[in-house]
Amino acid sequence: MEDPGIDPIDSENQTIVYKDWGFTDTWREMEKLLDSGKARAIGVANFGIQNLETLLASARVVPAVCQLELHVHCPSTKLVNFCQNKGIHVTPAFCLGSPSSPFAHDMTVKAIADAHGKTVQQLLLVWGLKRGTSVIPKSVTESHIESNFDLDGLDLTEEEMNRLDSIPDRYKVRGEWLPEKVFSSDAEGRDFYDGDNLFEEAK
Ligand SMILES: NC(=O)c1ccc[n+]([C@@H]2O[C@H](COP(=O)([O-])OP(=O)(O)OC[C@H]3O[C@@H](n4cnc5c(N)ncnc54)[C@H](OP(=O)(O)O)[C@@H]3O)[C@@H](O)[C@H]2O)c1
Repeated sequence: MEDPGIDPIDSENQTIVYKDWGFTDTWREMEKLLDSGKARAIGVANFGIQNLETLLASARVVPAVCQLELHVHCPSTKLVNFCQNKGIHVTPAFCLGSPSSPFAHDMTVKAIADAHGKTVQQLLLVWGLKRGTSVIPKSVTESHIESNFDLDGLDLTEEEMNRLDSIPDRYKVRGEWLPEKVFSSDAEGRDFYDGDNLFEEAK
């Protein structure tokens, strides 16, 4: 017999959703970890503006960080500004586009990287740093790791940042893999599209 407290509704993602439990409840429990000294900072991942507003309405502690997919093809500027205005540090996931990155073939990115005599990856990292976010490129290749640290002297002009921010192609490298019941809060299930109008229009 089905447990009345459990809604096994998200069969596609093979997840069980507890009817009387939401992320604000999870956050309340995470805040207790701070109180106990077991954690020094707590944060969220893949939250959009609506979910952050819901969280902040009842949170005692503002998330230290929000990690989410961010890159030149998914800049989510509105969401980044929202976080920064609330004192939430932003960390991009997939800042290089994950393995088999399509970014290396983007003509705008390549042209600006070439003009500076730098790699596409170095350019993408500086783009993230100039937006006030911290970048966490993942690599198992020694030469890549060294080159990802070798960013001194690479700065981008406002005009170059504008060109990068205006790249028309909008997409997520990981697609929509997040469990919708958890990460989408509005009627259309669009919260994790992050309030970036350009991205929504492109869908
Ligand atoms: N928020 C979320 O939902 C979420 C989900 C998944 C992952 N993440 C986080 O996102 C971070 C990165 O994710 P990711 O590994 O998928 O993506 P990524 O850092 O964007 O890309 C990693 C890929 O880029 C290559 N690479 C790294 N430096 C390079 C360079 N200088 N030149 C050429 N290629 C280079 C790596 O290959 P080599 O190893 O050969 O260098 C690897 O194939 C992880 O730390 C993870 O914690 C977050």
